[in-house]
Amino acid sequence: MSLPSKVKLVDVGPRDGLQNEKEPVPTEVKIRLVHLLQDAGLKDIEVTSFVSPKWVPQMADNAQVMAGIERRKDVRYSVLTPNMQGFEASVASHPDEIVVFSAASEAFNKRNTNCSIDESIERYAPVVSAARAKGIFVRGSISCAVGCPYEGEIAPERVEYVAKLFKQIGVQHMGVADTIGVGTPLKVRRAMEATLKHYDINDISGHFHDTYGQALANILASLEMGIWQYDSSSAGLGGCPYAKGATGNVATEDVAYMLQGMGIDTGIDLDKLIDAGKYISDFLQRKPNSRASTAILNKRAG
Ligand code: HMG
Ligand code: MG
Repeated sequence: MSLPSKVKLVDVGPRDGLQNEKEPVPTEVKIRLVHLLQDAGLKDIEVTSFVSPKWVPQMADNAQVMAGIERRKDVRYSVLTPNMQGFEASVASHPDEIVVFSAASEAFNKRNTNCSIDESIERYAPVVSAARAKGIFVRGSISCAVGCPYEGEIAPERVEYVAKLFKQIGVQHMGVADTIGVGTPLKVRRAMEATLKHYDINDISGHFHDTYGQALANILASLEMGIWQYDSSSAGLGGCPYAKGATGNVATEDVAYMLQGMGIDTGIDLDKLIDAGKYISDFLQRKPNSRASTAILNKRAG
């Protein structure tokens, strides 16, 4: 078994984490969270999304958040863009990377972005060209890659189909997302294998929500395949407003703790990361949804 010696974590907390919050989170709090994450050594942060504010009101301050961040040269700041309107709105914020997202499930894609999978690809083709012409990196994301709240289990062929279409329009990296956290290691492995038919191992990442507590196991299974890039969310925040019952992403703290224990380099300062998760959890008046964070905070208190 050969495991990667280094792992890149993209903290999606400010976006995936906060998009699902019912009460408005002030722009300054979002900006502070981004600052704490970069202080903790995160080199990739998914900051916000340029989606319709009618669909996701929490992300309506996208441009203000991007403008308020003190950017570091060695950090890559990404934003979600669901269409040309979103991409064009994002350009003034100078994202380093945009994320285009579709799904392996028709029913979910329709609910999330009001179009079919094929229509989403048609919509994205000019967005990808425009972004790449400006030197903006394009990451893709396939939601419901193992299971869907509306269609149930998803066959790997569905994932392969979307990965192929994304590849054809020039998307440079493919994130395989277990939106509702139902995946288990062998199913996740099959979804990864399907994606590997069109993307290199160095251009694939895993995005696992932790609804059923399987996310770390799914990361380990993917690590064993050589996949070394993962999304995670500070304090385990998150969920998708269009995926009922799904809870947050795997906590960045839990992933960082596991990788540290395995001797795999992430560049993250775990103590500072705990502080970042505690900051946003205190603001939201709840405990961090991370076992590692709970353990470390208890130890600090004791
Ligand atoms: P639509 O209603 O079909 O859009 O929504 P439309 O083109 O017909 O436009 C309708 C109105 O929206 C118009 O305004 C547009 O200007 C406006 P009106 O004339 O009514 O005043 N509009 C926009 N406004 C701001 N920014 C835009 C934009 N586009 C249109 N970009 C649309 C289609 C895609 C816009 C909508 O469905 C949408 O915004 N969906 C996003 C949903 C979302 O953000 N979901 C969560 C993120 S994905 C996720 O969490 C999964 C992920 O984490 C991976 C995983 O876990 O699976 C990535
Ligand atoms: Mg997600």
